[in-house]
Amino acid sequence: MPGGVSLPGFPWDSLVPYRERAQAHPHGVVDLSVGTPVDETPAVVRDALAAASNAPGYPTTLGTPAVREAAVGWLKRRFGIDSIDAETGVLPAIGTKELVAWLPTLLGLGPADVVVHPELAYPTYDIGARLAGASPVAVDSLVALGPQRPALVWVNSPANPHGRILPAEHLAKVVSWAREHGALVAADECYLEFGWEAAPSSVLHAEVNGGTVENVIALHSLSKRSNLAGYRAGFVAGDPSMVRQLLEVRKHAGMMMPAPVQAAMAAALDDDEHVDQQRQRYRQRRDILRDALVGAGFRIEHSEGALYLWATRDEGCWDTVGWLAERGILVAPGEFYGPAGRSHVRVALTATDERVAAAAERLAA
Ligand SMILES: Cc1ncc(COP(=O)(O)O)c(C=O)c1O
Repeated sequence: MPGGVSLPGFPWDSLVPYRERAQAHPHGVVDLSVGTPVDETPAVVRDALAAASNAPGYPTTLGTPAVREAAVGWLKRRFGIDSIDAETGVLPAIGTKELVAWLPTLLGLGPADVVVHPELAYPTYDIGARLAGASPVAVDSLVALGPQRPALVWVNSPANPHGRILPAEHLAKVVSWAREHGALVAADECYLEFGWEAAPSSVLHAEVNGGTVENVIALHSLSKRSNLAGYRAGFVAGDPSMVRQLLEVRKHAGMMMPAPVQAAMAAALDDDEHVDQQRQRYRQRRDILRDALVGAGFRIEHSEGALYLWATRDEGCWDTVGWLAERGILVAPGEFYGPAGRSHVRVALTATDERVAAAAERLAA
């Protein structure tokens, strides 16, 4: 790799034999292995994209006032967050995966720096640290870091892969620990609209950050909330000095959101109705899959939020993946997300009602 960056292999390749086995089911595969939305992009968003399709000039990296105001309006309307200024505290991202992967680099981190992420986590936090030449460390308890002083701490609530929702007090402790130790906090809040058993808190809430967003940013994605994964739409909000630094580098690097997508994102953020409908769909799928898994002898842990059920049969995760593949159901092995996931599987709620019903039927047989 250039610059000596060492990246892990792509773990999904190891799932291929199980996918083939599941696909051989006479009534087809039920793919619950990835969290990719399957329901339609709402008409209000598609119309906004189409209306903005004449875009001969370059978009700005900062984003239009309309998209930044829509982001601030959404934070206020849905979550009661009023600490973000549309001029200085928001920046569009081309989906959040790119921002997760490049955040340490964009913030100027390098080989001397440590980036902390949760023990069980979306793999891109680790990749982002490596791309910057920094050292990723997977720990849930910051105390376990000992004398190491991280430059950046990731939190993710509701979490991928296990759906855990961190209480506001927990997040507040992370923020104050980070401030005391000179670290920045990046909260990946892409599932903030999906709390099932608790209302998720944001690091942008005053009860978490003590009334100032200093040292703190939150990443928000439209992919799941608005069935917009194919558009690549997200944004970052928080500490104006961090946002300014990201803006400066992103301007030079050409990391700008296409103008029609900016218009679509503004329309999506201004509309709550489609989100409430989507939530309802996921809630029903979750209830059906949860009951079916429990009925088939699984234990479900965490899973208070996000779009996943974290399930175990108290055996190695690959045995469970194989058992489900025999029934034509494909899930992700927990060890993709860290060694602590070795006896769990991640079951995504992102399949059609018809496929979810088919999975439940097979689990009951
Ligand atoms: C925890 C987490 N963060 C970030 C992302 C990236 O989402 P996107 O790039 O679609 O905004 C995902 C996608 O599944 C995710 O699970």
